[in-house]
Amino acid sequence: MKEQIINLLKENENTFVSGQKISESLGVSRAAIWKYMKAIKEDGYEIESVSRKGYKLVSSPDLLTFEEVKGNLNTAYIGRNIIYFDSIDSTNNKAKECAREGAEEGTVVIAEEQTMGRGRLGRNWTSPKYKGIWMSIILRPDIDPINVSKITQIGAAAVAMATKDMGIDAFIKWPNDIVMNGKKVCGILTEMSGELNKVNYVIMGIGINVNIEKEEFPEEIKEVASSLKIQNGEYIKRKELVSRVLNNFEKLYEEFIREENISKSIKVCRERSILLGKEVRIIDRGKTTKAKALELSEDGKLVVQYEDGKIKEIISGEISVRGMNGYV
Ligand code: BTN
Repeated sequence: MKEQIINLLKENENTFVSGQKISESLGVSRAAIWKYMKAIKEDGYEIESVSRKGYKLVSSPDLLTFEEVKGNLNTAYIGRNIIYFDSIDSTNNKAKECAREGAEEGTVVIAEEQTMGRGRLGRNWTSPKYKGIWMSIILRPDIDPINVSKITQIGAAAVAMATKDMGIDAFIKWPNDIVMNGKKVCGILTEMSGELNKVNYVIMGIGINVNIEKEEFPEEIKEVASSLKIQNGEYIKRKELVSRVLNNFEKLYEEFIREENISKSIKVCRERSILLGKEVRIIDRGKTTKAKALELSEDGKLVVQYEDGKIKEIISGEISVRGMNGYV
């Protein structure tokens, strides 16, 4: 009911909606409306109420509910169903559960806070309340499982485009990190369920450190992690960024599904790459080798040249790549 009232107030922006009209349109008593209004205000909505005139929406909070995200959303199916949580252990865990229960392609699980956010390689992902974007997109591509890693690069390209659209200069550290000034501001964790030649579903979890302050990062990651706000110097509207990521993602994902290529994503990944042309360290099962990152292939492999001159294409997820002087 809260959502319906918010929608009604949004449809009548800058004008008062009478209690009677709300009551008639939504079939609830005036007393119930008063209670809902109180709860809506507690969620951060600024509502002016004037006797005999009714209620007017003055401002909306930066929440990641569908009501707030949809304003800038222009997708056909990605993010059209948002499953929202104030707090959850991990959106990837919840998304898996939803996918198993039949959630449709494009469903997004999003939370204001994660109490057990997961990163790659079994690491934790710090996800403080209202400070970032912690979301997982459920996908059901009819593709060979070998191609699932390409979805991560589509995601990285979508985030890089979205930040750029908002005037934020972020770069992609192949294959799944977004960095600014050498620090990680976003990570992607893609997980799948499938058989040898069949994908049941893919969960693409995206974590963006949007408005986290330096002191909110745990000591052990303070040197490598950062947020868009720290790097850009100003507060960023999360709901706008979410819708931009989803808009870009759908366009790029459609190319992948319909035309079976990821050219547009690769173009973005190349333009925004922090690794290409640089000396890197390739970490493969504990062994570190120096190489130069030469190119990103059309199908998303990183082409590197080792010091002995040998050239190799690296598949994402196989190994870790680090810069010569630390993280990038
Ligand atoms: C990484 O290690 O770089 C990947 C981090 C992925 C974090 C996101 S936040 C939303 C989703 N839910 C999780 O538990 N993890 C991913």
